[in-house]
Order: sequence, then structure tokens, then C-alpha cells
Amino acid sequence: MRILVCGGAGYIGSHTCVVLAERGHEVVIADNFSNSAPAVLDRIARLIGRAPEAHRIDVRDADALARLFAADRSDAASFDAVIHFAALKSVGESCVRPLEYFDNNVSGTIALLRAMRAAGVGRLVFSSSATVYGAPSSLPIDESAPLSVTNPYGRTKLIVEQILEDACAADPGWRAISLRYFNPVGAHPSGLIGEAPSGVPNNLMPYICQVAVGLRERLQVYGGDWPTVDGTGVRDYIHVMDLAHAHAHAIEALGRISDPLHGHRTINLGVGRGISVLELVRAFEAASGRAIPYEIVGRRPGDVAEVYADPRLADTLLGWRAERDVDAMCRDAWRWQSMNPAGYAAG
Ligand code: NAD
Ligand code: WQD
Repeated sequence: MRILVCGGAGYIGSHTCVVLAERGHEVVIADNFSNSAPAVLDRIARLIGRAPEAHRIDVRDADALARLFAADRSDAASFDAVIHFAALKSVGESCVRPLEYFDNNVSGTIALLRAMRAAGVGRLVFSSSATVYGAPSSLPIDESAPLSVTNPYGRTKLIVEQILEDACAADPGWRAISLRYFNPVGAHPSGLIGEAPSGVPNNLMPYICQVAVGLRERLQVYGGDWPTVDGTGVRDYIHVMDLAHAHAHAIEALGRISDPLHGHRTINLGVGRGISVLELVRAFEAASGRAIPYEIVGRRPGDVAEVYADPRLADTLLGWRAERDVDAMCRDAWRWQSMNPAGYAAG
């Protein structure tokens, strides 16, 4: 299939492009590089053996999208399907700049859907998030759990899911899957691509990596008094390569005309196992051979004690389940960090 990957230069998008290309798909990347570096395209090229087609495009730019979707393919629509990763993703920043988040994440998606409709492209995989479950009332979390959001970023994800629900209901030609990621971590096993946050990392694994490589002195553990196995927060960490494969399965499922998938479906992507902050620290120390100094501080506002997925629907509908364990997540995150201490900055 020929697949447009919006946000394909980002962390999860870059890994997905590599897996799609390895499975014989043709990928076209559209990214405005607001949170990524063009240098990632060279790394993808090294991994797949050719330069991916890439366009510097903002998904809110309707004219640029129209030109992209008008690209000449005499026998078919310009793309067989679209994967939409392009979004701003910092929970904290979204509370300070909510209008920018709604504009980028919601208006951007609407512009993309309009361009798809005009071009007759009706297959979409959307990056949603477990954040749409808010503070879960029971565990593990399956797709029928109540939805609630506590910040503007989460609201953009829920709104887009609802837009997709309505768009698919209005047009029987549309099929969309919203993949609700739990906590993506790790990197490609080559160490060539990985997560390269700008500034101080918001998330646990990139922070641990920066402590391990000496960029930061110690980890602050947000709360040691949660009602969990050891008092620290518990999450469902999932290897980014497993996520990338899940996207390939989703795209291929949408492409099968006889498939029972129709309309809009929401699907969890998680391992189904909760890991505490201190368990992750110990696994990382074992994988890297480095000590991770930490101190336990107060809880971070908005955090919840424990979140992990019921991942069975992904297996049922997509034939996918996570394969990589926490040791692989830490090993691959450390390989990426130690090979690229400054991220993509060194080229
Ligand atoms: P990322 O920031 O690394 O990748 C997003 C990419 O989209 C970047 O390359 C950025 O430059 C691009 N982009 C942003 N706005 C754009 C726009 N208007 N036009 C064109 N390109 C634009 O983030 P990621 O971690 O790879 O996340 C990918 C998607 O998954 C996002 O939608 C995010 O909300 C979602 N998600 C991420 C996580 C996570 O923890 N990483 C968890 C759940 C969901
Ligand atoms: C994990 C655990 C923290 C940093 C966030 C978003 C969510 C989704 C994934 C996009 C928690 C603890 C963290 C640190 C710590 N993103 N922690 N010290 O909060 O589960 O999810 O990213 O959709 O929407 O909210 O992930 O990695 O920030 O935190 O102790 O320096 O690590 O308290 O228990 P979170 P996280």
C-alpha cells in the first residue's frame, strides 16, 4: 500500500515508517518538523535502504495538503491510507497553551480529513492515547471503560475520536481506527532512531536515559505513597517497535475489504502489565550497567496511581500483541541514548 504518514518524522512515526517499509509498503512522510529533526530522514534511509519520500507540510495547511493528495497516480487515489501522528503532545504545555493544542491537534485533523475526502481516501489510523480514560475506576482498562479527560491535550484526543466517529457514521466509505497507546518507550534495536525530547523530558523513560548518560543528576520520583506495589506510580510501558508493528497490522486490516472492521474502532495498545517507577529504574540499571540516582518527591499534579491495559481487542481485531519485555525496552532505550547523547543534534 502507499501510505501517507503525517508526523512520520517524530518518535513513534519514524519507527512505524521503518516497519511499514520493511513490510513492503511505500511510505510518504508529511511533517512540519515542529518537534522533530530532518536528520531522522537520513537514519530512516539507512534502515530501509532508500530515502523515504518526505514533505515539509503543516497538516493545517489545506492548500499544501491538496497538492500532496493530487499527486499523480493514474490508476488509483494518491494514497491507499493515512496514519495521523501529527500532534502536540505535552500535557503540561497544553494547560498553558490550550488554543495552540486545539488548533494543531483538532483543526489539523479536520483539515486532513477534508483533504482525504476530496481525494477519495477513506482509510485512517489515528494516534489516540490512554489519557482518554482519565483516572480509571477499574483495572485492567478495556475499550468500554468510561472516558474522561483532565487536560486540554487529552481533550484534543477525545474530540478527534468523536469527530472520527461522526465522520465514519456519515460516510459508509470511511474506515478509521483510533489506537489508544499506553506508555510508549524504547527505540529501534539498531540505536539509529529513538526518542529525542527537546528540553527537560516530561516522561519517565527519557528522563532516566538522560540521568544514565550524565545529562541530569538524579531522577525525581513523583510520589512514594501511592496505593501500589511499592508506593510509586504504575504504568503499562510498551516498546515502540511493538507499537510500530501494531500500526502495520491496523493499516493492513483496514485494507482488507472483507474484514469485519467497519466505521470507527477504538483499540488499546498496551502490554497488559503494570510496572512501577522503581521497577523500571531497576530494570534500566540492569540493562545499562549504570546507577540511576533518585529521590522521592511529592506527587505530580494530575497523576494517577495505576494504569494498565486490557490489550485483548487488538489481538482479536488486528491479530497483534506486544512481544517485547521491559528488559528489551530498557536495553534499546539505553542503546539509542548512549549512541546519541544529544539526540539527532549531531546529525
Ligand atoms: P512526536 O512529537 O515525536 O511526533 C509528532 C510529529 O508530528 C513530530 O515530528 C512533529 O514535528 C509533527 N507535527 C506536529 N504538529 C504537526 C503539524 N501541525 N503538521 C505536521 N506535522 C506536525 O510525538 P510521538 O511521541 O511520536 O507521538 C505521536 C502521536 O502519538 C501524537 O499524536 C501523540 O499525541 C500520540 N501519543 C503519544 C504518546 C507518547 O507518550 N509518546 C502517547 C499516546 C499518544
Ligand atoms: C510515568 C510514571 C510519573 C517522570 C504521559 C501522558 C499521557 C501519554 C503518555 C500522550 C508516573 C512517574 C515521571 C519523572 C516520575 N502521552 N514519573 N518522574 O504520566 O503515565 O503519561 O505520557 O498521550 O497522556 O500523561 O507518563 O512517563 O510522564 O510518567 O516519577 O520525572 O513515572 O509520576 O507515575 P504518564 P510519564
